[in-house]
Amino acid sequence: MSTSPIRDDSPLASLLPRAPRCLRLAELPTPVERAPWLDGPAAEVWVKRDDASSAVYGGGKVRKLELVLGNPPHDGDAPIVSIGGLGSHHLLALALFLRPLGRTLHAWTFDQVMTPHVRTNLAVLMSCGARLWSVRSRAALPWAALGYYVWARPPQMGRWMTPGASSPLGALGFVAAGLELAQQIEAGALPRPARVYITGGSAGSSAGLLVGLALAGVGTHLRVVSAVEPLFFNSFALRGLARKTLATLRQRGLPAQGGLDGLLARAGVTWSIDHRQVGPGYAVPTPAGAAEVERSASHGLKLETTYTGKCAAALRADLESGDARGPVLLWNTHAGNELRARIEDGWERRLPPRVRALL
Ligand SMILES: Cc1ncc(COP(=O)(O)O)c(C=O)c1O
Repeated sequence: MSTSPIRDDSPLASLLPRAPRCLRLAELPTPVERAPWLDGPAAEVWVKRDDASSAVYGGGKVRKLELVLGNPPHDGDAPIVSIGGLGSHHLLALALFLRPLGRTLHAWTFDQVMTPHVRTNLAVLMSCGARLWSVRSRAALPWAALGYYVWARPPQMGRWMTPGASSPLGALGFVAAGLELAQQIEAGALPRPARVYITGGSAGSSAGLLVGLALAGVGTHLRVVSAVEPLFFNSFALRGLARKTLATLRQRGLPAQGGLDGLLARAGVTWSIDHRQVGPGYAVPTPAGAAEVERSASHGLKLETTYTGKCAAALRADLESGDARGPVLLWNTHAGNELRARIEDGWERRLPPRVRALL
């Protein structure tokens, strides 16, 4: 069992008679602040600073990991096996939070454009002791599985974790985030946003937030800006995970309130997905996304080109076209931590030769 402290102040505790165990890995609530450089002609923009959610590694991932690492089947001592790109924030977050627990990450990776950001993430991943099974593309991931289960067969096999920790249990971390935002609106930290922008990959953040906003009665439009192609993230995936998340809440004692659609309609919550910022593909930087990363950096807010830069670019496009009116909230799901000090000499030597050649 993990030795991390347990969170006793989760908003889930007051919602659920049988709230799941939740580790205290994050510093919550995260602040909300004005972001005037993102304002449009008819909208004031606010930012939810999940980048400041942890001194170890912030961003949205830690909200999900508090739940998934706190409960079976991922709360034991076994290594965890999961997948992502070479610069995956999910794999990085896992490696950083597993290390102090004396646990190992077995990572099945696929290649992605080797930006300086991706290289740093990979360096930290390897410095945390992660073991890699790498293939060239997402389509080739079954080969990584074969290599792992058939050829390598590590002495202690890893427990499989859904990509992005986006199981219904993980998504509960973002249900809690929706409740957290409602408390901040109530306390006057920001006005109720007409729109909330969040980026989507494996759907856990957006599905959880959708349910959380509805349960808290925050009538708004959730605009989910996809970082991946429609095949990998779409309304089917988002709706499916939101429904399963709601079912998990019911199993834990949430009084029945009809289905997802009824819940959303009663709360006045609507949602849509925007795929227009994906550009040439997942993790390929786009000029619009890169420009937002640069602009926000000059105002002290760290975004990156795979997810949050593209999300800010979508927000800007919607404000300029008049599709969005204020107030608007941009949820910054990217960790703001400076990690270079964690890189250990010789990390490259632990890479499979094919990946080392990509550096
Ligand atoms: C910085 C960042 N934001 C957002 C996401 C997407 O979240 P989700 O996978 O829950 O859709 C990711 C996923 O890896 C991410 O790294």
